[in-house]
Amino acid sequence: MQKIMIVYDSESGSTEEASLILKGEFEVLNKHVMITKVTNDIDITGFDTVILGSPNWFGKVTPNIQDFIKINAHELKEKKMAVFFTCMSLTRMKADSRVFQDPQFDLVEPNATLTKWQLTHTPTFYVDQLNQIAGSINIESVAIFKGKLTLSQLNFTHRVIMSLICLFRSDINQGNFLDKKSIKDWVLYLSN
Ligand SMILES: Cc1cc2nc3c(=O)[nH]c(=O)nc-3n(C[C@H](O)[C@H](O)[C@H](O)COP(=O)(O)O)c2cc1C
Repeated sequence: MQKIMIVYDSESGSTEEASLILKGEFEVLNKHVMITKVTNDIDITGFDTVILGSPNWFGKVTPNIQDFIKINAHELKEKKMAVFFTCMSLTRMKADSRVFQDPQFDLVEPNATLTKWQLTHTPTFYVDQLNQIAGSINIESVAIFKGKLTLSQLNFTHRVIMSLICLFRSDINQGNFLDKKSIKDWVLYLSN
């Protein structure tokens, strides 16, 4: 039986919630799944697949997930690996079929002129930032899900930053936008 390890980081709970949904959907398909919040001493021996979940922090996975990738780089090269982000913004557009984009985000026309914000939220940008961190590790698929924003659950600095972003971006609002169906669809894609 395929053994899957889900390692996630989460400040305000949405990546944790998405990881739990992911686990449930894999279990429906009879997969054996372990789930754990990221630390520096997770043993991934014996797992065929490692799935990393992270909030998008300025285009990247969190520093904790970056550390996990660096510490386990050697072993991760031998495994099937996939990564998902939760975030508030995605410039959804045609992309590599290995990139799963939450359909909640507005689709942008291929020839549209993009703002700097949109350019730093394209699927390609997400994947490029990840590849810079993961180096030669082969990432089977990257998913980008709309997550949750609850300012009161962020630390002081993050609350200030996200409050300012909310002021300037009308498309970013507080709320829980996690969509179980999108996560289920990604599980079906990964399981094929
Ligand atoms: C420091 C920080 C930076 C963020 N940067 C971005 C960003 O660049 N783009 C974006 O869409 N969302 C950004 N967000 C929003 C989070 O990605 C989003 O709220 C995520 O779902 C939170 O996950 P969590 O509840 O697991 O912590 C940022 C949030 C924080 C706290």
